Amino acid sequence: MKVTGSHEVPYGKVNKLEQGTTLKSTSKTLILVTLTLIILTIVPLYYPLHKYPSTHTSTGAGDTTISPVYHPQDELITINNNHHKCDVFSGEWVPNPDAPYYNNMTCWAIHEHQNCQKYGRPDSDFMKWRWKPDGCDLPIFNPYQFLEIVRNKSLAFVGDSVGRNQMQSLICMLSRVEYPIDKSTTKDENFKHWYYVSYNFTLATYWSPFLVKAQEASSDGPTHTGLFNLYLDEFDEKWTTQIDNFNYLIINAGHWFWRPALYYVNKQVVGCRFCQLENITDYPMTFGYRKAIRTAFNAINSRRNFKGITILRTFAPMHFEGGEWNSGGDCVRKMPFKSNEIKLEGVNLELYMTQIEEFNRGEKIGKNRGLKYRLLDTTQAMLLRPDGHPSRYGHWPNENVTLYNDCVHWCLPGPIDTWSDFLLHTLKMEGLRSAEEKAHPKG
Ligand SMILES: *[C@@H]1O[C@H](CO)[C@@H](O)[C@H](O)[C@H]1NC(C)=O
Ligand SMILES: *[C@@H]1O[C@H](CO)[C@@H](O)[C@H](O)[C@H]1NC(C)=O
Ligand SMILES: *[C@@H]1O[C@H](CO)[C@@H](O)[C@H](O)[C@H]1NC(C)=O
Ligand SMILES: *[C@@H]1O[C@H](CO)[C@@H](O)[C@H](O)[C@H]1NC(C)=O
Ligand SMILES: *[C@@H]1O[C@H](CO)[C@@H](O)[C@H](O)[C@H]1NC(C)=O
Repeated sequence: MKVTGSHEVPYGKVNKLEQGTTLKSTSKTLILVTLTLIILTIVPLYYPLHKYPSTHTSTGAGDTTISPVYHPQDELITINNNHHKCDVFSGEWVPNPDAPYYNNMTCWAIHEHQNCQKYGRPDSDFMKWRWKPDGCDLPIFNPYQFLEIVRNKSLAFVGDSVGRNQMQSLICMLSRVEYPIDKSTTKDENFKHWYYVSYNFTLATYWSPFLVKAQEASSDGPTHTGLFNLYLDEFDEKWTTQIDNFNYLIINAGHWFWRPALYYVNKQVVGCRFCQLENITDYPMTFGYRKAIRTAFNAINSRRNFKGITILRTFAPMHFEGGEWNSGGDCVRKMPFKSNEIKLEGVNLELYMTQIEEFNRGEKIGKNRGLKYRLLDTTQAMLLRPDGHPSRYGHWPNENVTLYNDCVHWCLPGPIDTWSDFLLHTLKMEGLRSAEEKAHPKG
């Protein structure tokens, strides 16, 4: 690890135009090299968690810093009919002066490296937006409604640190009603079990950044970031054997597939990604990504006792500009993009399409078994949020961290809180769907 802060880009100096010109004047090969090989290969997407209080419940009634917006009487669950036709994942960010709904004093679940206020992020406008779908409204998260819906249920996050980022955001969004108690069965911070006593609701997290069986073959490797053996057709049993009793699984993966890896199928090396070994075919990262997602869905579909809903949370793009993550790249914007200002393209588009294709495949197979698959299609909304990352405010200025400017994770509070709005909407639609299925069994 080394300090990479010596070539920070001054605020305001980086703009989209500059980035666009850089990209255009670069050959396609070079883009592949710079974007897919270097950006995240060295980025450790796991930081040790800071210590949580082991038990802590709160009604939120004592909070004076943030006034509660929702009350238990809001619990009535309503949903507008036009949501049937409306794609809630396509829209714009609009100002929301009421946000945020928690802060680092009211919520202890904020990960150290996403506690941007603590580390001096001077602006707060990035917290004050909400997502407005084209053609309908997405209500702001109502923690009482959410907890009512998940009463007696359980939800697991499976994936990488962006998934953990989402879980911690959810814990903070729920904290006005209740904090969970720690029911983890291991000391390993990558495998947490949280329990909401009043709602008999379990929230769990399973660390599996590649979703499949993986092993670090070398901690160095061609980019000094480790070389991983990925067994693309083998289940990662650390999570696949644990899911049977969960009602919801939120699956995510992406950023780790930038790293150099040897791809195994049938226990034989079939190729690699930037391993720089002779006689081994080099594949683009989507090769491993596609097979890994497919295997994850195969694992879910093969669990006889699993009856839950599988939710794929789509890839959230990162926003380095003016350089790569280790060459002065940073994310210094203060405002969201409008949807006409930026397009999903290049590797981001490839990763996204790979996910969608594998989702459709997994869903089809799952359907035969009576399993439900849903998309939490956050990619477009997050593409528009270059302003929501920690950048240099994920640690003290003099700290020796590898990812000095973090343009991958999301500040809390911040735009990732909107994923809870999306999630609640998805769960509400589920209720509507099953009510309709009961009323019109054949419809
Ligand atoms: C940063 O930390 C790494 C190990 O974590 C160490 O090898 C390196 O020398 C440190 N760099 C500085 C400038 O302290
Ligand atoms: C919360 O943020 C403030 C700055 O707004 C900082 O002074 C404080 O140390 C932070 N507290 C925690 C618990 O992170
Ligand atoms: C909690 O929910 C489970 C179903 O997930 C149920 O079997 C159990 O009886 C519930 N426990 C309590 C205390 O309500
Ligand atoms: C939750 O479980 C308890 C205990 O089994 C039961 O009494 C209650 O009706 C359940 N509530 C819901 C909403 O399923
Ligand atoms: C590559 O293949 C050739 C011919 O099969 C073999 O002689 C050579 O040792 C191989 N090199 C490596 C690094 O495996």
